[in-house]
Amino acid sequence: MREFLRQALVNKWSKPTVFLICLLPLVCLGWRAYQGQLTANPVEYVQHFTGDWTLRFLLITLSVTPLRRMLSMPDLVRLRRMLGLFAFFYVCLHFLTYIGPDQAFSLPGMWKDVAKRPFITVGFLGFVLLIPLAVTSTKAWIRRLGGKRWQALHRLIYVAALCGVVHYYWLVKSDHRLPLMYGAILAVLLLYRLGNSLLKPRPSSVAAVPTVR
Ligand code: HEM
Repeated sequence: MREFLRQALVNKWSKPTVFLICLLPLVCLGWRAYQGQLTANPVEYVQHFTGDWTLRFLLITLSVTPLRRMLSMPDLVRLRRMLGLFAFFYVCLHFLTYIGPDQAFSLPGMWKDVAKRPFITVGFLGFVLLIPLAVTSTKAWIRRLGGKRWQALHRLIYVAALCGVVHYYWLVKSDHRLPLMYGAILAVLLLYRLGNSLLKPRPSSVAAVPTVR
């Protein structure tokens, strides 16, 4: 089974296939819109849908490193950049449904809201943190920044995911189970990462070469 997965990962079709899978939530959303099934409040529905998928993609992206180590599948890293960029794609849609239908593209209105409502403030911070990560996700940027600085910058994804979890926790009024579950997954991923870097320090030359394919 592992050999099959390993072969599938190095196959030239692996990336296009994963790309199409990552687009499925958007296709589902489009299909629901086409069928007129976006509930009585379509803006809220799209906001929630895209927010959920942003958080899921952030956590999936953060799972790549633990999974590739635990399953001994280094080639999983081939998918990490794409998954991270999909998190950014969904947060852009999420933000667009906020700034567009919600705030009527009014920047002053948006700033007021960002300053007034803590859950918006922290969500906005998460979004802003993801921008430099998306911009510097290319090989050219790794070369320009150098491996160590690039890795340090890209650790911000944990902070962005934490902002996403807090944002979700604060906006939910009664049932906090789902944001707490996302928070627990993030905590496990973070502890794994911390444990790994504390217990198994790697030679700096190896750690300094991030893999983006
Ligand atoms: C890392 C960035 C972000 C993540 C992970 C995220 C995630 C989420 C999640 C999971 C939800 C709730 C979905 C549900 O109830 O099923 C949500 C709702 C929402 N988010 Fe975000 N979000 C982010 C950034 C933002 C930004 C930048 C804004 C606007 C400035 C924003 C505005 C909203 C609004 C208005 C709602 C709906 C609130 C409500 O219905 O009461 N989010 N977001």
